[in-house]
Amino acid sequence: MRPKPHVETIRKQVIVAISDQDPWWRDAVIYQVYPRSFADSDGDGIGDIDGIRAHLDHLSDLGVDAIWMSPWYPSPMADAGYDVADFRDIDPAFGTLAGAEALVTEAHAQGIRMIVDIVPNHISSEHLWFKKALADPEAPERELFWFRPGRGPDGDQMPTDWVGEFGGTTWTRTTNPDGTPGDWYLHLFTPEQPDLNWDHPAVREEFEDILRFWFDRGVDGIRIDSAALLFKDRDLPAVVDGQRHPFHDLDEVHDVYRAWRRVSDSYPSRALIGEVWMPEVDRFANYLRPDELHAAFNFDFLGCAWDPQLMRECIDRTLHAHAAIGAPATWVLSNHDVTRHVTRYGRTETTFSFENNLDGTPVDLELGTRRARAAALLSLSLPGSTYVYQGEELGLWENENIPVDQMQDPMYARRGHTRDGCRVPLPWTGDEAPFGFTTGEPWLPQPAEWKDRTVEAQTGDPNSMLELYRSAIRARKTEAGLHQDGMTWLDSGPGVLAYTRGRDFACVLNMSGAAVALPDHHSVLLTSGPLDGTLLPQDTAVWLRIQE
Ligand code: NOJ
Repeated sequence: MRPKPHVETIRKQVIVAISDQDPWWRDAVIYQVYPRSFADSDGDGIGDIDGIRAHLDHLSDLGVDAIWMSPWYPSPMADAGYDVADFRDIDPAFGTLAGAEALVTEAHAQGIRMIVDIVPNHISSEHLWFKKALADPEAPERELFWFRPGRGPDGDQMPTDWVGEFGGTTWTRTTNPDGTPGDWYLHLFTPEQPDLNWDHPAVREEFEDILRFWFDRGVDGIRIDSAALLFKDRDLPAVVDGQRHPFHDLDEVHDVYRAWRRVSDSYPSRALIGEVWMPEVDRFANYLRPDELHAAFNFDFLGCAWDPQLMRECIDRTLHAHAAIGAPATWVLSNHDVTRHVTRYGRTETTFSFENNLDGTPVDLELGTRRARAAALLSLSLPGSTYVYQGEELGLWENENIPVDQMQDPMYARRGHTRDGCRVPLPWTGDEAPFGFTTGEPWLPQPAEWKDRTVEAQTGDPNSMLELYRSAIRARKTEAGLHQDGMTWLDSGPGVLAYTRGRDFACVLNMSGAAVALPDHHSVLLTSGPLDGTLLPQDTAVWLRIQE
């Protein structure tokens, strides 16, 4: 194992007191833990809470401000935990509620806040509410969901032709207790994820109580899954271009988030962060009004091509929309749903969208890695908060070689695209799989080439992705300019993104086809790759001190 020369110093620098009234979400670095794939403590091949507790030092060495924990609740795992059977407990595969509480305490002791993931659009078909609703067509729980008779004389046609969020149909027919075919129920995702009826007051009360449950346990924030989907047009109209969508972004959703905001405001320094996929910037911004959510993921940035003009426009659009409502921008490059950006940026087509499946198209991993390093310096120096998806700090790429019979993502059957490739267990130590992730068999296979991407192999190597992230996050804390609001573009010529933050900090990213001269500066703070003399090579970024 390589020496870890500076770890103690780093740890001292990154431990910040958790203060009660700090609007920490405005410029935090938030690390997404996907618990199945972080670290396994008991050898069953699935990551767990004790595995996370045992590796908290990795996160404090990295210097992150908060952890966002993907769902860890009891679940049949039809959609990797986004099918929740009980929001007030922990799935036995991940550990116990006591273990989760201990993790919150231990993270806080390291200066790291905790965000949990709440999934309000749907629950698991194994949730008690749904089991009661299914067992008895007269049960009051029926009203908590979307049960409807079918169309046609025998009711054997679905109530609508809506296409699901994973593709495929959105209704499943039930069977009555006497064995005859019954009503249909709505599920925008898989049949194991029945949609909740948010017009019902019991649904609203239940979720406000769930928020309190986790806030009472010291959790600092809530990530809200599929935040724009909750409400449906009760008339069940068809989806027609140019007309109000029957289940995307209905206005009623804002009442819910206003109520949630009242709950979060009744605790000190809690944040609500929405997963809002919304191309219309003004509709997106509605979720961030001062009495609604504190922040939302920037999928515009995540999906943007590696193209200087488009990237600059996206940054401007983002900052403009957020400034108008006083909300902090967020910068996201990857998460558990999208192709890892080392892979995306190594392709000819560098955008991401679920509609454009690029799986298996040629990838230049060296190019993708070079760009991912530069993107790290970009996303960590723009104004706002930055999200790091586990493994991004190790430079992991998408595993596109998972055999079909080992795939677990329900999206594959519906769309022919799997999200399993970005969910592969992390490599920690050693020269071969499972790379210290587990003593058993990892739930998804890890590429043999990840022997160079383990935490152990990268620690202390100044050229590694891991040390780049550690240095950048450390510098982000101490650079005064990175704590100032806003940024100013520098006139830097075609293909180059250059901006200042505050009086003396600048970031320059060369996306042009050739090396370019650096602007006048006092010193170089950090580079994503070697400089070519005084020139900045292509697909390379640099952080500069521009004056003393
Ligand atoms: C968004 C989550 O990020 C994704 O993983 C999940 O499949 C869907 N919502 C459905 O819950």
